[in-house]
Amino acid sequence: MSDLLHLEVSPLGEYSISRSISKEFLEAFVAQNPGAVIVSRDLAKDPIPHLDGETLMAGRTAEADRSASAQAKHEYRLGLAQEVNEAKHILISTPMWNFTVPSVLKAWVDQIIITGFTKVKGKVTLIISQGGSYAPGAPRAGWDWETGYLKQVFESLGATDVTIILSEFGLAGIVPALADFIDRKNESIAAAKVTARVRASA
Ligand SMILES: Cc1cc2nc3c(=O)[nH]c(=O)nc-3n(C[C@H](O)[C@H](O)[C@H](O)COP(=O)(O)O)c2cc1C
Repeated sequence: MSDLLHLEVSPLGEYSISRSISKEFLEAFVAQNPGAVIVSRDLAKDPIPHLDGETLMAGRTAEADRSASAQAKHEYRLGLAQEVNEAKHILISTPMWNFTVPSVLKAWVDQIIITGFTKVKGKVTLIISQGGSYAPGAPRAGWDWETGYLKQVFESLGATDVTIILSEFGLAGIVPALADFIDRKNESIAAAKVTARVRASA
């Protein structure tokens, strides 16, 4: 069992907004749960391989008939899914890329969803940083294929307690067209950090 399965996605390190918010979560979580067992995966540093044919066929082949390579890939996949099954709380911190999840996170999702095997029993917290805003009334309202998608992924695995902590306008101050939204960006990040601390302490 782990108290927390923690995934990071952004490759931006110290410049990452999503990582700066999950840092607040982690600090509060450790303060609330001293000695917590935390399993961390940094998908930017150690990407999860995409599902390939050998992995898929291994799941359809008796163990005795699998090659050593197929067996290794099968066990790796089961291990990733087992981390999900055994987590009391799953924390994912990710940017939005091109209206959805970065492909490294999608690769992880494809690996861990094994029908009949993967079951989320604990809480799920999704920290998502967007460059703009997709809120009702925004010019691109309805273009967000990330938050609903990730929520659905975890609900499909049995999760009943999914919280999304969103920060908006991450590109303000970087993209000239969003220059007017710098205050909204800072407010959004500050609010997300507070929410992350509250969620971690719940
Ligand atoms: C490759 C790439 C694609 C992006 N696509 C979008 C997008 O579709 N919508 C959006 O709102 N922001 C988009 N952004 C901006 C990021 O979501 C935003 O800067 C976010 O704050 C990054 O989080 P991070 O600092 O944790 O990496 C994109 C950024 C990159 C690098």
